[in-house]
Amino acid sequence: MNRIFSGVQPTGNLHLGNYLGAIRNWVRLQEQYDCIYCVVDLHAITAPQDPDELRANTREVTAGLLAAGIDPANNIVFNQSRVSGHAELAWIFNCVARLGWLNRMTQFKEKAGKHRDNATVGLYAYPTLMAADILLYKATHVPVGEDQKQHLELTRDIAQAFNSMFKTELFPMPEPLILGAAARVMSLRDGSKKMSKSDGSDYSRINMTDDADAIALKVRKARTDSEPLPGSPDGLEGRTEAANLLGIYGALADKTVAQVCEEFAGEPFSVFKLQLVDLAVSVLAPIGKEMKRLCDDPNYVDQVLSDGAERATEIATPILSEVKKLAGLL
Ligand code: TRP
Repeated sequence: MNRIFSGVQPTGNLHLGNYLGAIRNWVRLQEQYDCIYCVVDLHAITAPQDPDELRANTREVTAGLLAAGIDPANNIVFNQSRVSGHAELAWIFNCVARLGWLNRMTQFKEKAGKHRDNATVGLYAYPTLMAADILLYKATHVPVGEDQKQHLELTRDIAQAFNSMFKTELFPMPEPLILGAAARVMSLRDGSKKMSKSDGSDYSRINMTDDADAIALKVRKARTDSEPLPGSPDGLEGRTEAANLLGIYGALADKTVAQVCEEFAGEPFSVFKLQLVDLAVSVLAPIGKEMKRLCDDPNYVDQVLSDGAERATEIATPILSEVKKLAGLL
């Protein structure tokens, strides 16, 4: 049976980049797969967190997933720390994975920077916890962005090492699912920077909670250049802001950039932006509204998470028992 697992960090300020890059794909996958979607609060604490903020962000991200259309009745939505099997299996994997494997992880190198000795053990072991997330449910497919592919390869290495260490075929080798043209959404103020929750200017991003007026204002103020729109993607070379806006339009309209270029060939940005405003508002404003409603109803969100955790535990328990038995844990 095919089973999807994916995780998202509980960060505040979910924006268009999160929506088009990950969340929207998750919504679409639920048509074809049994999906388990996890808000990874244990991963979040590999960096220092304010406890109240962490709680709020866990609820906010959950609200974003639900508002975007993930159905928590037919899928499982929960937060990682509620299912203790993640931490238990991660420990066992810490005793399977090799220092050399973790030393190669580029994300750790980037995050730890020059102060390696000062990094927490948790940050170092981040990938073994991610392997545990996936394998605790014997997930077969994992939607991930480019930046997480190396962690997924490590997950396969760990699965293989465990299987051979204990002469079993318990764990499947999970496959990455890279969906469509990965929509890489850039800042509306600077087409060379990724859209980011931590950009100082709120005009650089469209937040998932922005209302119609805010979306329209930000699109209108988005940086462009003075040329008309090109008739094909070739004409976007060196025009990062234009490429970004056309990419956003294409992603929202489910069209290729080439199709969008054809549609607007030779038009000025003023014409294109009116269309982009309409499109962005029609897709995003209802999601933002629902997300706000859910953020005002934390009891409902908590109920979804605890119900999801209960169902996740049901799947995880027999798998974890088997692991413990194989490893000789009485
Ligand atoms: N590391 C992932 C990220 O930062 C989040 C994550 C945690 C995840 N566990 C996972 C993704 C398991 C896929 C599968 O984006």
